[in-house]
Amino acid sequence: MALVNHNIATHLLPRALLLLSVFLNLSLTSYSAPPESEVLIKFRDSLTDNSALSSWNPAKPPCPGDAWAGVICQNDKVWGLKLQNMGLKGKFDISILKDLPLLRTISIMQNQFEGDFPNIRAISALKSIYLSDNKFSGEIKPDAFDKMTGLRKFAGARNQFTGPIPSSLTTLPLLTELRLEQNAFTGQIPNFLQDKLTVFNVSENQLDGPIPDKLTKHDLTAFMGNDELCGGPMPQCPAPTEISAGTIVLCVILAVAALAAIFVAIIILRGRKENPVPEKQQKPVATQVHKKGPSMDIDKVEKGMPPAENSPPAGKNNNQTNVRLTFLREDVEKFDLTDLMKASAEILGSGVFGSTFKAALGRSGRVMVVKRFRQMNNVGREEFQEHMRRLGRLKHKNLLPLVAFYYRKEEKLLVTQYIDNANLSAYLHGNRGRGVPSLDWPKRLKIVKGVAKGLQYLYNELPSIVTPHGHLKSSNILLNDTWEPQLTDYALYPIVNQDQAHNIMIAYRAPEYKQQGRITKKTDVWSLGVVILEVLTGRYPSNPSQQGNGNDSDLADWIQFIDREEWKTEVLDKNMTGNTKRQDEMLKLLDIGLSCCEPDVEKRWEIKEAVERIEKIKE
Ligand SMILES: *[C@@H]1O[C@H](CO)[C@@H](O)[C@H](O)[C@H]1NC(C)=O
Repeated sequence: MALVNHNIATHLLPRALLLLSVFLNLSLTSYSAPPESEVLIKFRDSLTDNSALSSWNPAKPPCPGDAWAGVICQNDKVWGLKLQNMGLKGKFDISILKDLPLLRTISIMQNQFEGDFPNIRAISALKSIYLSDNKFSGEIKPDAFDKMTGLRKFAGARNQFTGPIPSSLTTLPLLTELRLEQNAFTGQIPNFLQDKLTVFNVSENQLDGPIPDKLTKHDLTAFMGNDELCGGPMPQCPAPTEISAGTIVLCVILAVAALAAIFVAIIILRGRKENPVPEKQQKPVATQVHKKGPSMDIDKVEKGMPPAENSPPAGKNNNQTNVRLTFLREDVEKFDLTDLMKASAEILGSGVFGSTFKAALGRSGRVMVVKRFRQMNNVGREEFQEHMRRLGRLKHKNLLPLVAFYYRKEEKLLVTQYIDNANLSAYLHGNRGRGVPSLDWPKRLKIVKGVAKGLQYLYNELPSIVTPHGHLKSSNILLNDTWEPQLTDYALYPIVNQDQAHNIMIAYRAPEYKQQGRITKKTDVWSLGVVILEVLTGRYPSNPSQQGNGNDSDLADWIQFIDREEWKTEVLDKNMTGNTKRQDEMLKLLDIGLSCCEPDVEKRWEIKEAVERIEKIKE
């Protein structure tokens, strides 16, 4: 489009045409760039037989709606393509589709696609891809699935694939379904490590060798038609080599001798050691980079006493801890927890969830925030890490990115960047006398819009979590120097101890939890509503009349208790209402906040509706 404009302009066509092109350009920019329709049409045009896709009409956007055959939308974006049994022919150029930012699932089963295995890594966020019953052929590169960490389902059955099963499939953390039957795969089945791989089929290939341990639980029919496979449900594997009785005797003698030697060595070593090895050092630690630093006593830090910098205190050895941080982002300089602790540590806050401290990196002086969580010891290491990786992939200007984490059974630390500005709560309720400036209307509106967008992003990215944020409140909304809000403490619901969650998380203060003992997909919308009301009134959500201990629904009740005529003077924060011309917009936003706080979940808006309404409010 830009190119067209440019050409028209330089060739000095009549003014009317120029205007028309400007108009077209404007109307098109309301889609993302390039528009999803353009991407899909380009894909359709890349096929040699695409007659089944004649309903794809570029004059009408593919989302929302169902006018485009096989296009599945979610939140007005293309989320899935289900192009099954449509007689489609040609190469499958998946790289065209990478411009569909929310595309997560593709099925092109039962068509006549041909050529090499598509470069699915072009869309690394895919959750499922179904290619079964086509004419794809050739070897699949071992690393074809590298970094496809969100992939849950892959089906490539009944094609003409050859060569080994790609090893990069074996470590995909979320893979639950793998169908490769009726191809011409050769070699051994690589060592799949997933526990949750529940649907698995490699029958009718040319595989040989032993079936890996984790797969032996699958049904015989999952392996049939591979004459050389053995173990598990298939015939027992032959012993590696034939051994004579004499060799066995010799082996036994040698083994006994070796054991005796080791035994003696241990006794000698023990004798030499004055102290037994401290217990913590004996603990096996997962691989990855780990460093042993000077003792890091988090309890001390929590109490505001950073560990002494140079001289390790006595009894050091017993305290030595492995300080292994797992990094979730490539774009940050690596460090370990010892680095964080060395220079300075300052307690920022201590809440029900855990404590937060600020730590400066020695060399670069960079400041990080470390949050220590107590109520997270019911999830296993694997599950925890998996969830952390999921959070590490989130990227939005209204989310404070998670940089790294630290896992120990008893202790979880999450590391984020430090934002040198107060949180929203401090601005709304801070002590003006101590120099906390009040926020004007444009800033407050910008903050509300940013919070809503950040929350909607979480809904889109984490559809499987009931409350994608779960702990949304003004003190968890940080403000950067351009007043862009950044949410923190999001998406912790799956890893918080469920028996404690109701004591900790804001979501459980929603009316539905009181009424029905449950939280729902709309609970975060309620939290958003509370934040909006808090922003507009400058009052604490739980005791709007500034006295007594209430609960978070009180603010909405309090507002509705006051006559609508008096809202402008009684309800809106006087520190914001300087510009009285804007009061009508403020009241519109107040109504939105109240609707979000609707106690009847059925009547309460979905997040999408709430965000759309907030977007319409003018400064
Ligand atoms: C595996 O695929 C074969 C077809 O090749 C089918 O007969 C069998 O039932 C399947 N088994 C499982 C466990 O899916």
